Amino acid sequence: MQGHLTAIHIAAIYAQAGQKRLGNYVTNTPFTDLLNKIQTYQARAGVIGLGYVGLPLAITLAKSGFNVTGFDVDPAKIRALDAGNSYIEAVSSDDLTRESSSGRFHSSDDFSQLAFCDVIVICVPTPLTKHRDPDLSYVEATSRSIAATLRSGQLIVLESTTYPGTTDGIVKTILEKTGLKSGRDFFLGFSPEREDPGNRDFDTSSIPKIVAGDGVEAGELMQGFYGQAVKTVVPVSSNATAEAVKLTENIFRAVNIALVNELKTVYAAMGIDIWEVIEAAKTKPFGYMPFYPGPGLGGHCIPIDPFYLTWKSREYDLPTRFIELAGEINSAMPRYVVGKLAEALDIRSGKALSRSRVLIIGLAYKKNVPDIRESPSLRLMEIIHERGGAADYHDPYVAEIPSTREYMALKGRKSVDLTKETVESYDAVLISTDHDSVDYTLLAASSPLIIDTRNIFTKRGLMADHIVKS
Ligand SMILES: NC(=O)c1ccc[n+]([C@@H]2O[C@H](COP(=O)([O-])OP(=O)(O)OC[C@H]3O[C@@H](n4cnc5c(N)ncnc54)[C@H](O)[C@@H]3O)[C@@H](O)[C@H]2O)c1
Repeated sequence: MQGHLTAIHIAAIYAQAGQKRLGNYVTNTPFTDLLNKIQTYQARAGVIGLGYVGLPLAITLAKSGFNVTGFDVDPAKIRALDAGNSYIEAVSSDDLTRESSSGRFHSSDDFSQLAFCDVIVICVPTPLTKHRDPDLSYVEATSRSIAATLRSGQLIVLESTTYPGTTDGIVKTILEKTGLKSGRDFFLGFSPEREDPGNRDFDTSSIPKIVAGDGVEAGELMQGFYGQAVKTVVPVSSNATAEAVKLTENIFRAVNIALVNELKTVYAAMGIDIWEVIEAAKTKPFGYMPFYPGPGLGGHCIPIDPFYLTWKSREYDLPTRFIELAGEINSAMPRYVVGKLAEALDIRSGKALSRSRVLIIGLAYKKNVPDIRESPSLRLMEIIHERGGAADYHDPYVAEIPSTREYMALKGRKSVDLTKETVESYDAVLISTDHDSVDYTLLAASSPLIIDTRNIFTKRGLMADHIVKS
């Protein structure tokens, strides 16, 4: 009879009884106890790293009925959350306040409280080092914090994007130094985050969730836990597979964006508008998916994650040529755009870039969000300065440029107000990010020259002779 039951059915039967049959003995196990707690929402969840990924996840878990503690090392974030102020667009302050008042969510920088959590989810950054190698120092530090209070019956989940082998290698090794064993005492899983900041069509609960575990029981706990909070759970066979799924999704984007960026430069030389080509191509109901060109790649994911696989594949003596080529093409884009700007200034205004003032629109890496990590707009400003020109920016979401690792020279620069007089005082406007709330009619009417990397003026029906697509 049991041969026809899936592992999850068997797990549910054990959990119902709160027991597991071992030979002639009947015993509670860390697995059955935790599954029971998860299924009855008695499991306490901890989310470590309350950024773009962790905070929406923590609130989604709380909304579903779990008691959640959010942990962060940044005291300013804890203070803001305690005061009911969300700093992430995907989480409204109303939702935050509701979950806090209900007692289902609170935040803390006291990591000793991890001992009271039954499920702990890690959502800390995974950047690249200066030499473009994976920087797993945040994941390692967090794993050590968890190890300090690790106990039998906890499920530890990594959500940070990383190369295949991180969860079962790095995280597990640190946790097992306690003497406790994955799959016997505690459980270990990986579930990649697929958050898309600024996307109003999907949120944490409606994006299908890939889950995996180290061993069958960890996999069952992962399905049980996420199944309580998100609509669709997609189990895969191992943590390494789940890690590879996430990298595959982001490599797919990086490579396809590079492809349209390359096509953009080729078609521009032929006098063909890439955006018109894409609009027509996407009417094909199968076999084509539109990707759009731009001033370069930005954000914490697409420019970074593919290189996690490049690094790992060196261990296997295998090249990742698509990834390297995509990186090369995408990172050449800001220089290409500034080249177009210089050419247009020269031909249309008879002015050298070195004597020009340029206003960049949009500092964030994508529209309608305040995130400037890896934003090509910063690189555009830097290149214009290198070539002797002056560049300011306007961004309704970024009042001032904060400290960044690569662009310290730009720190403290403030967003310029958009008025007729200020726009007229610049030799050119460069659209880097097409935030919805920017007044494009004002720009079209007041700027002598506009370089548009997002096709926004065609989309708004404002295309004119002094607007150059790039
Ligand atoms: N932002 C996205 O859209 C997105 C999408 C999918 C996946 N991811 C992945 O999710 C992970 C997190 O990204 P994010 O965008 O949320 O980053 P983030 O920088 O917005 O947030 C990370 C948070 O972790 C905190 N933190 C750092 N070290 C810590 C530690 N030792 N203990 C506790 N907290 C610590 C930081 O203070 C910060 O609040 C990364 O691996 C990223 O690649 C991000």
